[in-house]
Amino acid sequence: MKRSLTGIRPSGNPHLGNYLGMIKPALERQASFHCMYFIADMHSLTTLKDPEAMRRFTYDLVATWLALGFDPKNHIMYRQSDIPEVTELAWYLSCCTGMGLLEKSHAYKDALAGDREVNHGTFAYPVLMAADILLYEPDIVPVGKDQKQHVEMSRDMAGSFNAAFNQPVLKLPEPVIDERVMSIPGLDGRKMSKSYGNEIPIFCSQSELKKLVMSIKTDSSALEAPKVLAGTLISDLCSLFGTEAQYKSLNERLTNGGLGWGHAKVELFEIVDAAFSVQRDLYNQLRADTNGLEQVLQDGATRAREIARGVLNKVRETVGFRSM
Ligand code: TRP
Repeated sequence: MKRSLTGIRPSGNPHLGNYLGMIKPALERQASFHCMYFIADMHSLTTLKDPEAMRRFTYDLVATWLALGFDPKNHIMYRQSDIPEVTELAWYLSCCTGMGLLEKSHAYKDALAGDREVNHGTFAYPVLMAADILLYEPDIVPVGKDQKQHVEMSRDMAGSFNAAFNQPVLKLPEPVIDERVMSIPGLDGRKMSKSYGNEIPIFCSQSELKKLVMSIKTDSSALEAPKVLAGTLISDLCSLFGTEAQYKSLNERLTNGGLGWGHAKVELFEIVDAAFSVQRDLYNQLRADTNGLEQVLQDGATRAREIARGVLNKVRETVGFRSM
């Protein structure tokens, strides 16, 4: 079976945009690939210096993926920092990677343009990411558009390594970009994103969810006035999470007049709430059992490490070191 690998940075509660854009397609891939999905905590460390949050975000992510349908028996979920082999491979790649390549990274350029000091981890980020990938010889690496360049750089690094030692040691991966580019609108109509603070979490309490949905801005037309659903944020979210029948019914009643936007939002809340209610219970159960989550991660790490060791030993021998 072909292997699919991707990394997920722990950075707080995943939202509905993450779900539709990344998590759902990644879960669906379990049917046709052997999936290795890991928590990219070493990448988060470039910006996150809060051990408590690091642990919390990590467990949040694992519980989220499990609740939504990740199968840790037939696939592998692991924590990047449980695999020390990855930083070792990153060094071998570093020694075959020109500064010029890394200076071209969009993420690095954006960081330079920001007002924070740029650390070496941010500069070397694509090298660690290449090591993440090349250590497991995946066939495909599904990522968002923003990460495509990094996957391409990992192909460049694999190519330079192979060329430097004149042997096809490292396997070049294919980036896969989900072209159904899902841009999910957030509560203010802009793209749903943590950086805009307009997100709807996948798992939060009903009261929080209701408050968020009710905060959507609508026009102030009177209750009796006929209303146009199409083109509104309520329409977008309703068509993403509701059934066709639910959408049609809401649309009809708004068109006929007599239904206020407030009522429409309550219906939307109910639709989104129902879409994840089973998973939410499961999430709460899983999230309360950190030992269980830890077990999933460590079992994943054991299996991932076996693959990693094989590839790393090949690389060690290639450069003239001892296989361990
Ligand atoms: N850089 C990715 C992100 O920010 C996460 C990531 C780390 C990753 N290593 C990876 C993705 C390897 C794919 C493959 O989202």
